[in-house]
Amino acid sequence: MYFGSAISHSRFKWLGICFLTMFLIYCLTNQDMGLNTRNSIYKMHASSTGPSDSVRDHSENSTHRLDGSPKSSELPQQLYYVESPHCKMPYIDPFSKEVLAIYKPMAFETCTKESDLVTPIFDVNRKRYVLHIDEGVAAKILNSSEIEYNCYYQEITRSAEHDSYNDLPPRIYFSQGYVVPLHVEGMILGCSEAANDSNVLQTDAFGLIQYKPYPSAVPIRKTAPAQAAQRKPSVIMFGIDSISRINLRRTMPKVYKFLTRSGWYEMQGYNKVADNTFPNLMAILSGFTPDTVKEAICNTDEKGCFARIPFIWKFLKDAGYLTAYAEDTCNINTFNYVKPGFSLQPTDYYYRPLLRAFESEMKTWKCAKCTINYCIGRRIQSSYIYDYAKEFTRRYVDERPIWGLFWSSSFSHDDYAMPSKMADFVLQYLLDFETDGVFNESIVIFFSDHGSRFGKLMYLSSGFLEERLPMMFIYLPPWFRAQYPEFAEALTANRNRLTSNYDLHNTLKHIAEIAGLPNSAPLPKANDCPRCQSLFYPVNATRTCADAGIPEHYCTCKPYKRISVEWADRIAPRVIDRMNDYLWGKNLSSLCTNLTLSYIHKTEIQIGPEQKFHELQKMDVAVYRTKFKVQQNSADFFATVVYNNVTNNVDVDVEKISRTNSYAEDSTCINDKIAKLYCICIKDLKP
Ligand SMILES: *[C@@H]1O[C@H](CO)[C@@H](O)[C@H](O)[C@H]1NC(C)=O
Ligand SMILES: *[C@@H]1O[C@H](CO)[C@@H](O)[C@H](O)[C@H]1NC(C)=O
Ligand SMILES: *[C@@H]1O[C@H](CO)[C@@H](O)[C@H](O)[C@H]1NC(C)=O
Ligand SMILES: *[C@@H]1O[C@H](CO)[C@@H](O)[C@H](O)[C@H]1NC(C)=O
Ligand SMILES: *[C@@H]1O[C@H](CO)[C@@H](O)[C@H](O)[C@H]1NC(C)=O
Ligand SMILES: *[C@@H]1O[C@H](CO)[C@@H](O)[C@H](O)[C@H]1NC(C)=O
Ligand SMILES: *[C@@H]1O[C@H](CO)[C@@H](O)[C@H](O)[C@H]1NC(C)=O
Ligand SMILES: *[C@@H]1O[C@H](CO)[C@@H](O)[C@H](O)[C@H]1NC(C)=O
Repeated sequence: MYFGSAISHSRFKWLGICFLTMFLIYCLTNQDMGLNTRNSIYKMHASSTGPSDSVRDHSENSTHRLDGSPKSSELPQQLYYVESPHCKMPYIDPFSKEVLAIYKPMAFETCTKESDLVTPIFDVNRKRYVLHIDEGVAAKILNSSEIEYNCYYQEITRSAEHDSYNDLPPRIYFSQGYVVPLHVEGMILGCSEAANDSNVLQTDAFGLIQYKPYPSAVPIRKTAPAQAAQRKPSVIMFGIDSISRINLRRTMPKVYKFLTRSGWYEMQGYNKVADNTFPNLMAILSGFTPDTVKEAICNTDEKGCFARIPFIWKFLKDAGYLTAYAEDTCNINTFNYVKPGFSLQPTDYYYRPLLRAFESEMKTWKCAKCTINYCIGRRIQSSYIYDYAKEFTRRYVDERPIWGLFWSSSFSHDDYAMPSKMADFVLQYLLDFETDGVFNESIVIFFSDHGSRFGKLMYLSSGFLEERLPMMFIYLPPWFRAQYPEFAEALTANRNRLTSNYDLHNTLKHIAEIAGLPNSAPLPKANDCPRCQSLFYPVNATRTCADAGIPEHYCTCKPYKRISVEWADRIAPRVIDRMNDYLWGKNLSSLCTNLTLSYIHKTEIQIGPEQKFHELQKMDVAVYRTKFKVQQNSADFFATVVYNNVTNNVDVDVEKISRTNSYAEDSTCINDKIAKLYCICIKDLKP
């Protein structure tokens, strides 16, 4: 019923719906402005069903050329993101021929054409949420204003046991203007015909940012101009999974354009420090690698461990911040995917229990070829996270310092092209933040954890860079730039220097220090990168990946380029020969089987300091990386080797070859910790 429009999308129907939605939003927005948005009443979620008129492209050609992105040929071509003696990080044209051959921008889809029947409205004077029932919408749904109906909600509460939600309590019926009790942080609601409960008019779901009054012990920053020197900047972290700076420019050029406005600083030399979301966010949020956490604090696979890790939100809370954390796609949440999650609620506001409830209790819908729910109930999955961010900032932006992490992976994790579908949608939230004054007050960080890690982009010559160069934009509000001009200058200098997650961690600590009590001891810096620093100080221009805590494998200073030429297929079999020699040399041949090639995943060539990324030069000897699978138990390996293209000789330290899948069941016949990676025991051979 709800998704009829999205499923049966004849193109014209869709366009019609779209314009209708836009018109409604336009009216709502204007109405809000008429009420003086800042001091009066806010309507929640006015834009969550779709982008507004102001950002939509009306022309039929929805290619990147129309939306303000520069034609690459019109600009002097940038050659490097970073160019220094130790680091040459090549600039990649987001619209190269190679990518345009596969990339098609996608069209936005809404989840419902129906208007909201019930809206929680925050009454700023009472500082309470009030439920507004739109009787016109009910009459339209029932096709009558005579039929009576009832509305009810069910409160969502957190279950610490599973870092999820408790079974839904009984319905609470409400009427027009119902004041929501302060303990309700999220709800599922519905209205049904009074004479026939199974005739449901509409159901919906909302997360609420209930107002928490300022604790009197902490000075209120805005009331005393004399305290301006101690003004604490709020920090809003807006993260989207798996988007490289290249793919941002490609798929969301209008968002990119917004991020080039004054006050924004792009860290173009930002390089990820680990493979996937968990270790990359751990570095930003805790300053630790998962391995060091295990050694120094606790095992993150064990329940209760996350509560003991010194996450950045704890330092900010100590400095007087209210904190929030919301993430979508619950089944792959950063701290819950093959991890136990939080036993104690980590932040003052925490969305996971709410979204878990919404996803389980509401209807869901996936767009064509999508693997992750696109709609939950009546709304786009990521809109729950962004609306929560909007409520959070609206509640407090003028009043007290806040920190929030709003992370979504639902539209970017599985398909590199899908962000194009959401570009206007994301831009609209940024414009809403602007309207709400967020950019007048707060530091905003718009970022990702890494680029595409699988899929079509990985097959491009630039795949190595796509994967390793997440987008990273930092915004400083005008007052902060005025008060700390040297920090703004440092950010300007750092735009084209090598930086990493640990620098961002130290920057957040720096902010906590600025906000903390004067003369208090400096906070501990990122544990796993002793030479990392706050980005508010200039980074050494001659920095190396090792200086920035970036392991060689992820370092893009000496980039690799994917090659798909026949001769490159000679490398992997030669590497396998070396591995068999190694097993012989260790006298393991009677226990371990010889390995033979199944297939080559990919081969990459290192771009030397004197070479150009964009043209492959002929070299007899070069450094290569090859990722391949052997026939025995389908084991995967990734090797860095020196290969002579003329003699066909391979130079490789076998013990440095990575095993990229689990070997637990393959090498039970030996105990040597290193040889276990390369040995497939004869007795463990799978047919
Ligand atoms: C769209 O692109 C086509 C082919 O590039 C061109 O012929 C046409 O005039 C364009 N239409 C608009 C509205 O720009
Ligand atoms: C709605 O009501 C009108 C007038 O009462 C009637 O003509 C129409 O058929 C109704 N439509 C539906 C869908 O029930
Ligand atoms: C009650 O509403 C449901 C759903 O609209 C409908 O299928 C059913 O026929 C209705 N029952 C009665 C008694 O009208
Ligand atoms: C933000 O600051 C600008 C410039 O000072 C001002 O025009 C605008 O009204 C402010 N916006 C809000 C929502 O306070
Ligand atoms: C930058 O690092 C190099 C090498 O470590 C060092 O010699 C140089 O003094 C550093 N420059 C600054 C400005 O710190
Ligand atoms: C296994 O590999 C070793 C070392 O490369 C080689 O000497 C030996 O002949 C191989 N054995 C078989 C059965 O292929
Ligand atoms: C090689 O391994 C076999 C069987 O495990 C063992 O009997 C033999 O002593 C080993 N030889 C050496 C030189 O270690
Ligand atoms: C390797 O050799 C092939 C011919 O065997 C040649 O086409 C290719 O350009 C060489 N590669 C490099 C990097 O020199």
